[in-house]
Amino acid sequence: MTAPVAGDPGRAPAVEAMFTRIAPRYDLSNRVMSLGIDRIWRRIAIRELGAAADGDVLDLCAGTMDFSQALAGRARSLVALDFCQAMLDAGARKIPAGTVLRSICADARSMPIADASLDAALAGFGIRNVPEPERAVAEALRVLRPGGVLVVVDFFRPESLLARFLDLTWNRTVLPLVGGLLTGEFGAYRYLARSMHAWSDRAGFERMCREAGFAGVTGRELFPPVASIVIAKKAG
Ligand SMILES: C[S@@+](CC[C@H](N)C(=O)[O-])C[C@H]1O[C@@H](n2cnc3c(N)ncnc32)[C@H](O)[C@@H]1O
Repeated sequence: MTAPVAGDPGRAPAVEAMFTRIAPRYDLSNRVMSLGIDRIWRRIAIRELGAAADGDVLDLCAGTMDFSQALAGRARSLVALDFCQAMLDAGARKIPAGTVLRSICADARSMPIADASLDAALAGFGIRNVPEPERAVAEALRVLRPGGVLVVVDFFRPESLLARFLDLTWNRTVLPLVGGLLTGEFGAYRYLARSMHAWSDRAGFERMCREAGFAGVTGRELFPPVASIVIAKKAG
């Protein structure tokens, strides 16, 4: 099965096809490969939303909707957007009945969402896969209300010594092997490791957010320093 080529500007259809193939086993491989640590990273990301988590929240590149699931019962409404229907279908089963959730199958570069209609956007491990990520960032800014916040958790190009060591040992060795064994998609997990290198470091992504027009932009490494978080606020 052909995997997308990291950094290829035309990779979107191959990325969508890859997630369609791994959707049934995505959650299992996620928990195993992160040793459950992704749940801690997600809690930190939600905390960064502050009071905006009680409002109308976009789960951007939602995948199997882990963020939507965590916010169900708290957010006034949720919009889960992803261009892979199979991932959204796998996620929808996890959302409690009665949650106000709109599931949208669309590209993050062109979101069918009204201007200034949401309080917060959360993007977990997704924007890295979007060719022209600056378009997804501009779209996030457009759909947020003044004072709204975008929180991105992702694997940026590793920089610190410890991050580079973990990249060599964990990302490039353990992750493709374990992910491949769990899903049968070795190529997909090699792509995921390579995609961290083919896009931005965290500082570059923070700059991208500022250039898009976000006002307050901050970021930091999470622990262990495999993933990082960026928080970008829309001027009020
Ligand atoms: C690694 S998964 C992350 C899913 C989820 N956010 C999480 O935290 O587990 C990346 C998701 O981004 C989606 N994605 C990649 N490129 C996209 C694009 N251009 N537009 C919308 N979704 C995209 C994929 O379909 C996939 O579901």
